[in-house]
Amino acid sequence: MTTQAEQTLTMIREVCALGRVEFDRPHTAEGDPAAGRALVQGLHAIDEGGEPSDISLSLGLLAPRAPYFDQLVLDALAAGTRQIVNLGAGYDDRALRFRHPGVQFFDLDLPEVVADKALRLQALDTDITHVTLAAVDFATDDVAAVLARAGHDARQPTLFISEHLALFLQPSDVERLLAGVSTCAAKGSTLALTAEVHPAGLTSALVVSTVAEVMFAGAVLLQTIKTRDAWLGLFKKHGWQVENATEVTAVNHFELPMADKSVQIQTQFLTATTV
Ligand SMILES: C[S@@+](CC[C@H](N)C(=O)[O-])C[C@H]1O[C@@H](n2cnc3c(N)ncnc32)[C@H](O)[C@@H]1O
Repeated sequence: MTTQAEQTLTMIREVCALGRVEFDRPHTAEGDPAAGRALVQGLHAIDEGGEPSDISLSLGLLAPRAPYFDQLVLDALAAGTRQIVNLGAGYDDRALRFRHPGVQFFDLDLPEVVADKALRLQALDTDITHVTLAAVDFATDDVAAVLARAGHDARQPTLFISEHLALFLQPSDVERLLAGVSTCAAKGSTLALTAEVHPAGLTSALVVSTVAEVMFAGAVLLQTIKTRDAWLGLFKKHGWQVENATEVTAVNHFELPMADKSVQIQTQFLTATTV
C-alpha cells in the first residue's frame, strides 16, 4: 500500500471513531459511555491537504451503521455470548461502552494501530482488564492463530464484528479472513460485517479500478466491492448462513460514474450465523 493510501486509511479510521462519538448511543450498565470520546482525544482525521476532515460528511453513513453494530453487541450479551471479537477495530469504543461481567473483548488491528490504542486505553481512568488487543495483518496472518494466542476460546460462541474493514482488503484476503474466522467460530457464533456492494451486471474488477481512478488518483484503496449475490455466496462457502438474506439492510455509500451512467455503491450490513 502506498503512503498516500496509508494516510487516507488513517484518516478514515479516525473519521469513523470521531463520527461515532457524536451519536447518542446505548451502553451496558457496567459500560463506560464517556470513554469513547476520551479514546479519540487529539485525533483530527487529517486529510491529504493537511487539514482536519469535515467529519459531518461521514455522519450520514455512520447513522445507521453504528446502531446496527451496537445492537448486535447488546443482543449477543443478552444471549449469553462471552466473547466479542472486533476485526479491524480501529478506535472503536465498544469494548468499553459494552463492558459486561464475564465478557472478553478482542480488538484486532494493524500493529501500529494496536500500539496507539493500547497507550490511549492505559491513559484512561477506566477498567480495561476485559479488553485484549491483538496485532494482525489480515493480508498475511491467520486470524484464528492470532486469536488463539490472544486467549480466544474457539470452543465457545463468539460475536465477530467487522465494521468498514472488508473494503480495504483484497478479495483473496477477505475470503481468507472468512475462512479463518470459520475455523474458530463455535456453534452459536455470529459474524457481522459491512460489505461494499455494486449492482449486478457489472464486473467487480472494473468497479474497483474505476473507484481507484475516479476517487483516489489511481491508488487502489477500496479493494473489495462485489454484488450482493457474490457476498452471499462467499458467506455460504465458508459455512455462514446470512440472516434475512432477502432483506437488504444498507446505507448508500457513494455514486460512481461508469460509462454513461452513475452507479450506486452501497454499504450493506450482513449478519450470519454458523451453519
Ligand atoms: C475504516 S477503519 C474502521 C475501524 C473500525 N471498525 C470503526 O468502525 O471505527 C478500518 C480499519 O481496518 C484496519 N485494517 C485495514 N487493513 C487491515 C489489515 N490488513 N489488517 C488489519 N487491520 C486492517 C485499519 O487499520 C482500520 O483501523
